[in-house]
Amino acid sequence: MISVDRLADQHRRTAGPGRDPLGPRPGDFGPEPRQPGNLTAVPNADHTLRQPGAPRPAHPRPQPLAELAGRLGVAATGGSSPSVAPVGGADVTGITHDSRAVRPGDLYAALPGARFHGADFAAQAADSGAVAVLTDPAGAERAAATGLPVLTVPDPRAVMGELAAVVYGGPGEGMLRIGVTGTSGKTTTAYLIEGGLRGARHGATALIGTVETRIGEERLKSERTTPEATDLQALFAVMRERGVESLVMEVSSHALVLGRVDGAVFDVAVFNNLSPEHMEFHSGMEDYFQAKAQLFTPRRSRLGVVNLDDEYGRRLVAEATVPLVTYSAEGRLDADWRAEDVQAGLLDSRFTVIGPKGEHVQAVAPLPGPFNVANTLAAITALAAAGLDPQAAADGVAAVPGVPGRLERVDAGQPYLAVVDYAHKTDAVESVLRALRTTTQGRIHAVLGCGGDRDRTKRGPMGAALARLADTAVLTSDNPRSEDPLVILAAMLDGAVGVPATERGHVIVEPDRAAAVAVAVAHARPGDIVLVAGKGHEQGQDIAGEVRPFDDREVLRAAIEKDQKQL
Ligand SMILES: Nc1ncnc2c1ncn2[C@@H]1O[C@H](COP(=O)(O)OP(=O)(O)OP(=O)(O)O)[C@@H](O)[C@H]1O
Ligand SMILES: [Mg+2]
Repeated sequence: MISVDRLADQHRRTAGPGRDPLGPRPGDFGPEPRQPGNLTAVPNADHTLRQPGAPRPAHPRPQPLAELAGRLGVAATGGSSPSVAPVGGADVTGITHDSRAVRPGDLYAALPGARFHGADFAAQAADSGAVAVLTDPAGAERAAATGLPVLTVPDPRAVMGELAAVVYGGPGEGMLRIGVTGTSGKTTTAYLIEGGLRGARHGATALIGTVETRIGEERLKSERTTPEATDLQALFAVMRERGVESLVMEVSSHALVLGRVDGAVFDVAVFNNLSPEHMEFHSGMEDYFQAKAQLFTPRRSRLGVVNLDDEYGRRLVAEATVPLVTYSAEGRLDADWRAEDVQAGLLDSRFTVIGPKGEHVQAVAPLPGPFNVANTLAAITALAAAGLDPQAAADGVAAVPGVPGRLERVDAGQPYLAVVDYAHKTDAVESVLRALRTTTQGRIHAVLGCGGDRDRTKRGPMGAALARLADTAVLTSDNPRSEDPLVILAAMLDGAVGVPATERGHVIVEPDRAAAVAVAVAHARPGDIVLVAGKGHEQGQDIAGEVRPFDDREVLRAAIEKDQKQL
């Protein structure tokens, strides 16, 4: 552990009005500990959930291959294998882009990739029972070598989503579908919307996002924020079988650019905010904005819900080509829905929502911080725009017990607040620290690392944000992946020392994440806050390609318990 600097503490005493001067005590954390839930398993998953790839519907609706070919405007060619039906005569019961996930009756989409072409795995797909291959001219010959019928199109990825929707019989069409996009707050807002759907609508609900997929009470771990189009449509089909009537999902900018939501038109699309992120994927902010703006066109949604407090949200208002409903947590009078009389608390915020027809809705953001007022207002506005009763929706949102890894509280009876948060971008680190600052007059001891093999440009700014806004800034490892953890830490430290000494907290470098958490805990006094940021719900730490079990929530709890025993 390297102690770099001492706290210059004159600069951060900005507790909100009305706060208990003694700070939080154990009993202040609320009578019922919030249980965000068990993320590890789907208790009553059917056997399909254990196979690779997305779950599949139990009762597929076979589609003739000839009809699918007709929709693409191509003819199936090849098909010499004696084991399959003649060209055009096969029935397709599923579709996947992953050869390992092929099931009998599937159309295998062989896509070009950075290192391999999916057609290299066409034989494996055929062995698993694929009845045909969809590919591009570069893959056509290899696909034909399997003897399966081949559908050749210039860009299979561009048609895959629409085709998957046809293969599964338009599975999402009868449901109310709400999509959420933005740089920060998608996961949180999606859980809040799910709560509102549960509270205000009949029928089962579903959620698809970074942490998990939820189908009614079933839970599945997610591989990515927005599944690939073939998996997404299969999930819709499973949801239809389970009686799901409404669903909310996160829509990442990658998903929009890579066509993962092709074949789905959202009834309501939500835009939270935009700040620099994913610059390794987008060529700049303009490209990033344009990717997000796609969601607000008739091809992808029927109605948009847009944050007027965000600069890019205001720009979207001018550029979107679907009808829009706007909201403002900062109370802008030109917004359709706005928040008023916000009373921020340690665990939540209470406020009134004023609607376009003078509606007055009593709302509770079930997570602390101003940005969660924005997320909550976004959720209520989206639900109201979807036709739900706003107060019933707000009540459902208020009842959300927590969001895994998003300001998730760890309570082991300690006399201070301890939270785990997924903030892993500069903007989020700043927001979460500023939000926590408004809830305490005590000190904030924060732990943060930056991931390896990802955007390097944010390491310095994240180190600087932590040093500037926390009283104790413990710089540590996130998922170093293939990089040297000390190299990552050096970049974070570089940012931290760029903050003038009078404006920065006590900066400590501890490469071992569990030890770093213990350092933060050791600094905590009654009324303080310990924040472990960056990994949120994640359950492993990737060091040199080996993923070891690591859950910030468990590590934090263990550190607090150990610390309490030593007292
Ligand atoms: N509206 C918001 N504005 C700024 N920061 C936010 C907002 N909502 C959440 N955050 C911060 O960003 C972190 C990530 O939030 P969340 O997971 O809800 O967003 P996300 O958009 O789904 O992120 P990702 O794209 O990484 O999955 C939170 O842990 C919190 O620190
Ligand atoms: Mg997310």
